[in-house]
Amino acid sequence: MKLNIALLAGDGIGPEVIDQAVKVSDAVAKKFGHEITWKPALTGAAAIDAVGEPYPDETHNVCKSSDAVLFGAIGDPKYDNDPSAPVRPEQGLLKMRKALGLFANVRPTFVFPSLLDKSPLKKERIEGTDLVFLRELTGGIYFGEKGRRDDRNTAYDNCVYTKEEVTRLARKGFELAMQRSKRLCCVDKANVLETSRLWRETVQGLEAEYPEVQVSYEFVDAVAMRLVQWPSDYDVLITENLFGDILTDEASVISGSMGLMPSASLGSDIGLFEPIHGSYPQAAGKNIANPMATVLSAAMMFENFGLTEEGKVIREAVNKALAEGIVTEDLADGDKAYGTSEVGDWLAASI
Ligand code: IPM
Ligand code: MN
Repeated sequence: MKLNIALLAGDGIGPEVIDQAVKVSDAVAKKFGHEITWKPALTGAAAIDAVGEPYPDETHNVCKSSDAVLFGAIGDPKYDNDPSAPVRPEQGLLKMRKALGLFANVRPTFVFPSLLDKSPLKKERIEGTDLVFLRELTGGIYFGEKGRRDDRNTAYDNCVYTKEEVTRLARKGFELAMQRSKRLCCVDKANVLETSRLWRETVQGLEAEYPEVQVSYEFVDAVAMRLVQWPSDYDVLITENLFGDILTDEASVISGSMGLMPSASLGSDIGLFEPIHGSYPQAAGKNIANPMATVLSAAMMFENFGLTEEGKVIREAVNKALAEGIVTEDLADGDKAYGTSEVGDWLAASI
């Protein structure tokens, strides 16, 4: 297969972890006879510094003319404490999600048998965890009208959802549940929020079309608690943008490191694949960041092209590295820590 992949490294540790995913993907391509053309493009603070815009048109054109986007991370601390900054790196990511129609963010949480002791949660609680969040990504409070009133002393962010937005995300959830254990949890705050009542009513309306799927409705605060108490109770969870943002960070703790969890953003022909972690600026340029989440995002990319074996080979290489202790400092636990690029080299060589 010939693949054109837009490569958006972004900020902080982004370029370093992306390099490893490229190495590993190239090794997979070589093994299976694929040809990957990487198309680097600017995004985030790096793009603001270069052209004054976090998601320039040129980057959008590169993405639009590619088969998929592999994304590193976005964000720079110089913007975090400057509420008046006219442009922010994160706006680039939001603009890109919207412009590419990526309304469904697939965020799996699973445990690696060799890392069960690395999780801050008790082994017997997390064993067997294999769940997937489907986070709505282009609506809700992230994209509603926002602003200031009363001499800037009052601020508002509107949360808006249409039935159509909920339906398309929920259908993906039902379809995923059908391929898995046929259990779907709709996470909302329907006891308080009108948008949540629309979510619940919409999902209820779809139940008849998927009679085999057992649907539960749970409030987001209760899910936040149960997720770390009994994560293996859950399978597919669907939720709105902000709840999904928060719960997926929480869920990543289960696996033992945030540096392990990949994601896919889908909705149009061009999928975007990225680690769920941020730009980790403290580690930038130090060759210490864990590249596995980005490498596993590349596995999701292959799988999304229908290249299941290719994805599997990457997952097996990651499992082997973890089992043999070829890990970065976040997982080393006093034992030898490998550098970001050494982990990438090891993974590529083992493929
Ligand atoms: C994520 C990130 C982004 C989000 C930020 C960087 C805008 O936290 O992908 O989860 O909130 O969606
Ligand atoms: Mn987040």
